[in-house]
Amino acid sequence: MCGIIGIITNKKRNLVPELISSLRNLEYRGHDSTGIAVIDGNTLKRIRRVGAPSDVLEEGEVSRELGIELRPFSIGIGHNRWATHGKPSERNAHPHVDCENKIAIVHNGTILNYEILKKALMLEGHVFSSDTDTEVVAHLIEQGIKDGKSFLDAFLESITLLEGSFGLAVCSVDSPDRILIAKRGSPLSFGIGKDSLVVASSANAILPHTNTFITLEDGEYAELVSENDGVRYSIGNFVDKSIDIAKNPTVIENFSLDELSKGEYGSFMEKEVHEQPSVLRTTILGRYDTKAGDAVLGGLIDYEDKLATAKQILTVACGTAHNASQVGGVLIETLAGIPVRSEIASEFRYKKIPLSPKRVVLFAVSQSGETADTLESVKEAKRKGYETFGIVNVVGSSIAKMVDAGVYTRAGIEIGVASTKAFISQLGIFYLLALKLARERGMTAPEGQDFISELEEMPEHIQKVLQNIEEQIRDYAKKCVAQNIQTINFLGRGIHVPVSNEAALKFKELTYIEAGSYPLGELKHGPMAIIDEKTLSVVLMPKDEVFALSKNSIEQIRSKGGDLLIITDVEGAKELEGSGLNLLVIPTLKNPLFYPLIEIVPLQLFAYYYSRELGHNVDKPRNLAKSVTVE
Ligand code: F6R
Repeated sequence: MCGIIGIITNKKRNLVPELISSLRNLEYRGHDSTGIAVIDGNTLKRIRRVGAPSDVLEEGEVSRELGIELRPFSIGIGHNRWATHGKPSERNAHPHVDCENKIAIVHNGTILNYEILKKALMLEGHVFSSDTDTEVVAHLIEQGIKDGKSFLDAFLESITLLEGSFGLAVCSVDSPDRILIAKRGSPLSFGIGKDSLVVASSANAILPHTNTFITLEDGEYAELVSENDGVRYSIGNFVDKSIDIAKNPTVIENFSLDELSKGEYGSFMEKEVHEQPSVLRTTILGRYDTKAGDAVLGGLIDYEDKLATAKQILTVACGTAHNASQVGGVLIETLAGIPVRSEIASEFRYKKIPLSPKRVVLFAVSQSGETADTLESVKEAKRKGYETFGIVNVVGSSIAKMVDAGVYTRAGIEIGVASTKAFISQLGIFYLLALKLARERGMTAPEGQDFISELEEMPEHIQKVLQNIEEQIRDYAKKCVAQNIQTINFLGRGIHVPVSNEAALKFKELTYIEAGSYPLGELKHGPMAIIDEKTLSVVLMPKDEVFALSKNSIEQIRSKGGDLLIITDVEGAKELEGSGLNLLVIPTLKNPLFYPLIEIVPLQLFAYYYSRELGHNVDKPRNLAKSVTVE
C-alpha cells in the first residue's frame, strides 16, 4: 500500500540506481505510478511516471533526465503509489513538492483532514498541483518555515496537525544534509549502514543495503543526517515530545539477497508456490516434541495456562489469512473440541460480539503484520480486555509488536501480491496449535505422535503434487481459457470449504474473473441456478467421510450440463474411475485433516496459469497491493 524509499549518504554518488532498485523491491506495495526526487546542489529535481518502476524507470535514462548522470549527490527519496486520493497519473504521483519546489515529500497512508488543511493553505496563497491528500504536508512545512520555524520544527508542527495515517519522508534543498521521517499507522523503518541511512516502508528495500535497521513506532519521528565523517540519526516522539529515544536496532542474520530475486523462475509467484515444501519444513522446524507427541510453540510458552483453560478461540484476519484461520478453526474444533469463531478483521472491529474476554483468546493472523484492519482489531480487542496472540510472518511488524505473545510463521519474504507460501505457513502453525490444544484436552501421546509424523511428511507430499500435476493443470487452464468459461465456482465440504474460498480468492485476484465458492451441499439451495454448459465447478473431494455425499452433489451439477474438475486423492480416483469426469489426483493421506496443505497447491497453479494465459501480470494484479495499510 504505497512504498517509500529515502537514501542519505556522506559518500556522495549518483543514488538513482539504488533508488530505482529499491523501488523495484517495493513494487508489491503499489505500482500504479512512481517517482524520485533528489537534491542536486541547491535544486530539487524530480521525475514522476505512471506505471511500475520496473517498467517505467531506467537508471541511465532517469539520471540523464534529472541532469545528474555524472554528478554525485547525497539525498534522494522515491515512491511507488497505490492510489487512494486522485487517480493514477503523473500529476498525482509522489514525490510532492511545495510552491517553491524546495521541499519534497513521499507518503504512505491517508490524511483524513486534508481538505480542511488544503482550504486553509489555499487561503494563505498556496498553490496545489495534485489531487492528493499528501501534498498538504509539503505546503504545511513550507508555511511553517515561512513563519520562521526550522525545518525540523515545521515538520513536527505539521505532522501534529494531521489526522489519519502516515509513513513520511521529507527532504528540503535548504537543509540538504537531512531527511526527516515520521510514522503513525503506516510501517516505516530505517537501515543503518556505514556511510548511508536508508528509510523504507518495508525491510525488503533496506536489506540490500544493510541487515541492521530500526523500526519506528507510532508517534515516532527521526532525523537522518549526513556529516563529513559519517551519518547519524536521532529519534523522538511527536506525541509526548520526548527526544533522543534510544532504540536497539534489529539485525537480520542469514539473510540472502536471493530472497529478493526470482531466481530461476519467471515470476515471484511461481517461485513462492515452489518454495512451499521448504517453507512448511521451516515453519514447523523445532516446534514439536516427537517423543511427547506434542507441539512446542516457544512464543506462547508463558501463556500455556491460558491456552489450556480457553473455552473459545477467536481469530481475526483478512483475505488469505482469514481463509487460513478458517481451516485452523476446523482443525481446532475437530481435534481439541474448542469452539472457534473466525472473524474478518474489517468487520470484527465494529461488531458487538457477545463473548466475555474471560477464557477467550484471540489470534490475529497476518503475513505482513501491518494490515490496518487486523491491527485495529487487535487494538480494539486489547481495549476490551482480550488476551491477544499473533500468527505473523514479518518479524518486528506492528501486529507482532502489539499482541501479547505469538508465533512467527517463517515463510520468508513474500513478494507476489497473491499470497501462497504465507498461506501454507499459516496452516503449518494452525496444525501445531491444534495439536497443542488437543493434547491439553485428551488427545493421547501416541495420537499426537501419529499427527506429528503425518505433519512431517507433508512437505514431501506438496513436492510430489508440484512435480506430478503442474503440467496437467497448465494444460487444463489453457483449455478453460480457450473454452471461454464464463463462471467458475470452487466447492467442497467440511475442511475443504475454506480451501475453496482461498482458491476462489486466488482465481479472482489473478484472472480478474468473478469466482464463487460455496459449501458443496449449499449449491442446491440457490447457486445451482447458474449452472449450465458455460460454468466450471471445481470440486475438492478427496476420499474422506463426506466423499459419498460429494459424489451425489457432482452428479447434480453434471445433470445440469455444467463442466467439472474434480480434485481427489488416489483412493477417490479409483472410485470415480470410468465416470468420464476430469480428475486431478493428489496423494492419499492417512489423516484427511491434512488435505488442505496439498489441495490448495493445484488451485494456486490453476489461477497462476489461467492468469498467464490471459496475459496478466501474476505478481502485480491490477488494483491490488501487498500490504493493505489503509482501512
Ligand atoms: C490474497 C492476499 C490478501 C491478504 C490480506 C491480509 O492473496 O494476499 O488477501 O491475505 O490482505 O494480508 P496480511 O496477511 O498481510 O494481513
